[in-house]
Amino acid sequence: MQTTLSIIKPDAVSKNVIGKVIERFEDAGLKIVASKMIKLDKEIASGFYAEHEGKPFFEKLVNYMISGPVIVQVICGENAILKNRELMGNTDPSKADPGTIRADFADSIDANAVHGSDSEESAKREISYFFKDDELFLR
Ligand code: CMP
Repeated sequence: MQTTLSIIKPDAVSKNVIGKVIERFEDAGLKIVASKMIKLDKEIASGFYAEHEGKPFFEKLVNYMISGPVIVQVICGENAILKNRELMGNTDPSKADPGTIRADFADSIDANAVHGSDSEESAKREISYFFKDDELFLR
């Protein structure tokens, strides 16, 4: 069993497709074991995306991520990290396979509907960035 962090980004929240995104995870056999709706501020968003600091898209990314509420959630299941990434599709929705979350719900590489951890190491860091151990209802 593996856990991974998922964020439903401001564009997907404002399009009212939170449930549709979560349905993709549940239909793939993944379970939501922690979830909350929050509005990130500049410091929290910058810290979360620290690995991208200095890249040309960093400021736009941070400003976008604080533009509205997001859902942060922990997803659990066999191979959850890879499964989540497959369900999300390519970072750039124009390159994402049909049927993936980004192909179906995202508009651009910036407003790309969802974030998912890309490795076990980042999942560990990203989950603990938003949740305490006792906030995960592992089952
Ligand atoms: P995410 O998976 O949340 O991780 C970093 C985000 O930066 C990414 O999704 C995109 O929304 C955004 N981004 C914007 N431009 C780029 C780019 N050229 N390469 C990667 N990510 C980008």
